[in-house]
Amino acid sequence: MNGKRILLIIGGGIAAYKSCELVRVLRRRGASVRCVVTASGQKFVTPMTLAALSEDKVYTDLFDLKDEAEMGHIQLSRQADLVVVAPATADLMAKMAAGIADDLATTLLLATDKPVLVAPAMNVRMWDHPATRRNVATLRADGLTVLNPDEGPMACGEFGPGRLPDPEAIADAIAAQLDPAAKPLAGKHALVTAGPTHEPIDPVRVIANRSSGLQGFAIAEALAKAGARVTLVAGPVSLPTPAGVHRVDVETAAQMAAAVDAALPADIAVMVAAVADWRVDAAPAKLKKEAGPPQLNWQKNPDILATLCASAQRPGLVIGFAAETENAADQGAAKRVRKGCDWIVANDVSQDPMGGAQNRVHLIHADGTENWDRMDKTQVAQMLVQRISDALCGN
Ligand code: CTP
Repeated sequence: MNGKRILLIIGGGIAAYKSCELVRVLRRRGASVRCVVTASGQKFVTPMTLAALSEDKVYTDLFDLKDEAEMGHIQLSRQADLVVVAPATADLMAKMAAGIADDLATTLLLATDKPVLVAPAMNVRMWDHPATRRNVATLRADGLTVLNPDEGPMACGEFGPGRLPDPEAIADAIAAQLDPAAKPLAGKHALVTAGPTHEPIDPVRVIANRSSGLQGFAIAEALAKAGARVTLVAGPVSLPTPAGVHRVDVETAAQMAAAVDAALPADIAVMVAAVADWRVDAAPAKLKKEAGPPQLNWQKNPDILATLCASAQRPGLVIGFAAETENAADQGAAKRVRKGCDWIVANDVSQDPMGGAQNRVHLIHADGTENWDRMDKTQVAQMLVQRISDALCGN
């Protein structure tokens, strides 16, 4: 980041205190930082603090006569290499999406000809609200980079996605934006499914499988580290959400299918989940032993991967998984053609039972099969993401 100039716009939210640390991290990495604080941002951090940390003037007012005599807001918006909004509140993003320019921050954002990176932070319900989702989609469609907020306990006492990412993680995203080669998948949206599905039999029992979710979560993490925006649709597992990944929790195959559909469009899909092929008509009340062995009425579940491959919104690169107990490579190759995906990662679960830390996989594509050594699932994830980057970006 040496010599790069960042214009940092600080919105009004409790996470604004982290912007002070962000200034320090960016300067430590060699960037210069010029701060703009909104009126509500100043309720959380003072211009004095930011001036001391940035060693520069802090801008707060559109109608500062001296600055405006020199058309200050236009200059300010053009002098930077990158404009960063952190924290971006729901209100600020709504104004940006609508093109409203009613204070210095929003005027700069409308006037700038430089790339803009947005790090949102807000209450989980505000983040999940359809209006915010719409605004985020609009900003992304307009070419802005909008980071996913982190998940965890929030200042308001609720839990979920909405926390401002760690200043180091924001600085990584800024570095990636300034040097695209460092993050080959920057600007791509990757969709990952992971874990098992649970199909209810009655209110207390489910049909499940042994998938741990480890491989899918490792892939989601590796994709995020390569700069992709990642949506992880997770079946019932108790794994922590990888940093910067947007996680959607589901239980059943039908819910997973709906969540995958809702996450589209995507550039990459990696379908790692062990989806139950069958569900049963669930009993509304607990089945009692005295009634004898239950008659289960089996129904076929949607094939999420095959449906995705046949859809009008098919991602450019679709990768399926095949856990087999015999002839993994051959069965995987047939499955690749049957499902219509680009690659299949096949593994032999008779030797590496599901839930273990390692995997021995075959990567099957149209031109042949690569047999990879047995390795940790995190390494499988890194190698797969390297292949994805090579395929999509040619590097
Ligand atoms: N898959 C899916 N939806 C299903 C079943 C499977 O999306 N209902 C996906 C999995 O996520 C995986 C791939 O399809 O990427 C292969 O899953 P697998 O269970 O091996 O395939 P099946 O079609 O169920 O074949 P099999 O008869 O071997 O179980």
